Amino acid sequence: MKKEPQAYFITLIHTLSFLKEEFAEYYPSWHFKSGAHGFATFTLDREYGLEEFRSFNTTFALAKGILLHQGNLAEMEAKLEEVQETYKAITLHRWDLMAEEGKMGDRKNRGVVIDFIRYDEDQFALGVRYQIRGDFAPYSGISPIPMPERSPSKAYQKLGEAFKHFRPLVAHDDVFLDIGCSPGGSSYYLLKRGYRVIGVDLLDIDPKVREDFPEGFLFLKQSFSELKTKHLRGLPPVNWIVFDVDCEPIEALTSLLKMMDKLDECDGLIMTIKLDRGFTLKDLGTLETMAKNHAYGVIRKGLLPSHEKEFCLVLQKTD
Ligand SMILES: C[S@@+](CC[C@H](N)C(=O)[O-])C[C@H]1O[C@@H](n2cnc3c(N)ncnc32)[C@H](O)[C@@H]1O
Repeated sequence: MKKEPQAYFITLIHTLSFLKEEFAEYYPSWHFKSGAHGFATFTLDREYGLEEFRSFNTTFALAKGILLHQGNLAEMEAKLEEVQETYKAITLHRWDLMAEEGKMGDRKNRGVVIDFIRYDEDQFALGVRYQIRGDFAPYSGISPIPMPERSPSKAYQKLGEAFKHFRPLVAHDDVFLDIGCSPGGSSYYLLKRGYRVIGVDLLDIDPKVREDFPEGFLFLKQSFSELKTKHLRGLPPVNWIVFDVDCEPIEALTSLLKMMDKLDECDGLIMTIKLDRGFTLKDLGTLETMAKNHAYGVIRKGLLPSHEKEFCLVLQKTD
């Protein structure tokens, strides 16, 4: 009897339930089979090509591919050679989802990758997936973005991961409005890359931001909910908004889009959506509809490996 086609997904431990819900809603013909340590398998309705399978927009999967075998270490090692012969892969990635430290692979190349995954004590899986530039490499616990010693917070890595993964179309002299900028990791990241930043927060920014970047940073100490376009008059026009505030996402996006409509030069938004702020899967559709209604035709969303309780939404104007 022919085996039913199966897929594997790598997510974060806390987002496995969201992944299951997302697939039940958007891909009802795929059926959940098993899940452990951020590793989930699904039965598929048919065979998929690797490129086609990668192209499905899944918010809660860091990586996804076609499952070939599951078993203990010895069994998987024995199968590896056969898999390598069948798939002329550009690389072999070993993921250890049980260990604290992951290992970075080569994400620069485009092509077929063989994944050798440890997802439980002596439980392993072998699969293949199509990789493009910007995909996350084997990861568990450490960020692909090295953090400078003087960065005031881990938000440096978070924004770095968002840039690496989503590749927003940003020009080198763009101005960012960084809402919820304190203590300053995200602004530090943007300034280090040469962008200009207008930070907004109720709390002060870490002095290291101004010490290390005496030019290019302006600060508005105020609440985002009271921020009006008139407060931005006389400042360099804003091209992009970064929003990283612990709040209810739909309400926040509503006011952000209203403000963005009035900012003529604004091209897009990079926003973290908190999963512990009453987020339900239905909100995913609402966020997309809102973005489309405001002419943000490019909508990208996905997990960032260093942050379990949120995902990142990137909206960009289509010219
Ligand atoms: C998760 S932290 C942001 C981390 C920051 N992006 C960084 O790079 O370090 C959330 C920030 O939002 C700020 N915040 C919360 N409510 C706010 C509001 N209504 N207006 C402006 N900032 C707010 C908090 O003071 C806090 O600094």
